[in-house]
Amino acid sequence: GLVTCAEILASAEAGGYAVGAFNCNNMEIVQAIIRAAEAERSPVIIQASQGAIKYAGMGYIVALIREAAASASVPVAMHLDHGTDFQQVMLCIRNGFTSVMIDGSHHPLSENIDITKRVVEVAHAVGVSVEGELGRIRGVEDEVRVSEREAFFTDPEEARIFVRETGVDALAPSIGTAHGRYRGKPELDFDRLAQIRKLTGVPLVLHGSSGVPGEDIRRAISLGVRKVNIDTDIREAFVAEVRRRLEADPSEIDPRRILGPAREKACQVIREKIRLFGSAGKA
Ligand code: G3H
Ligand code: 13P
Ligand code: ZN
Ligand code: NA
Repeated sequence: GLVTCAEILASAEAGGYAVGAFNCNNMEIVQAIIRAAEAERSPVIIQASQGAIKYAGMGYIVALIREAAASASVPVAMHLDHGTDFQQVMLCIRNGFTSVMIDGSHHPLSENIDITKRVVEVAHAVGVSVEGELGRIRGVEDEVRVSEREAFFTDPEEARIFVRETGVDALAPSIGTAHGRYRGKPELDFDRLAQIRKLTGVPLVLHGSSGVPGEDIRRAISLGVRKVNIDTDIREAFVAEVRRRLEADPSEIDPRRILGPAREKACQVIREKIRLFGSAGKA
């Protein structure tokens, strides 16, 4: 059934594991996520970005996630990923999202606090949980020189102030991960992560987790990460299978025979992630 993210994260906190937050933008990926969570008996967070909502349409994406949650016997949260705009966040709350991210990380600290605080005030009044972001989590496409890399990282002292002032339920810090496929091996700043956790005390969210080695993910979880965001690894598995099927039989004209197997491959990837995060069997 449908629950808040705060509920899911509280159990993860008590159990010392993390829950996967998987991005969706169509029916097959929503189904891959819910089937994986059911098969692993795991709580799950199904998230949609503003781009995904624009692509599918608000009504469709909400109906898909709602149906996934209603038909499931595991806890499911419906989460807005990287909400950047106050109006968009409000629209999601009104449409039934049980959790929202307000990403004010491109603003200076005081403005990030202001917008995040405004969202928390409204969201908490109606039982919706809020994730904030502090420090810039880059896209791998953004060329960042190593010398400049740490300038984007979250300052632990600022994180303490941000969490205290805003009252967010979860914090996404910048500690070296990036959205998309990595070119080399990502270098995570675990000392910084530990410090941020110590000074904030809230569940932490690891963005850009596709392509991060399993042992690094486990270590991050041991230091307080409770929500792990995965998009790219699902997209790749899905599209690789679409490509394989099209190449195997160029005369195939039934979308179900192409997207069905792609959905199955995505489901397998998600099941592996769920086991890695330690949430299997926790529902
Ligand atoms: O953080 C970004 C997520 O992977 C969603 O990406 O904005 O292309 O839907 P998107
Ligand atoms: P990846 O695409 O690297 O998995 O990042 C996903 C993410 O952080 C969504 O917010
Ligand atoms: Zn992200
Ligand atoms: Na990534």
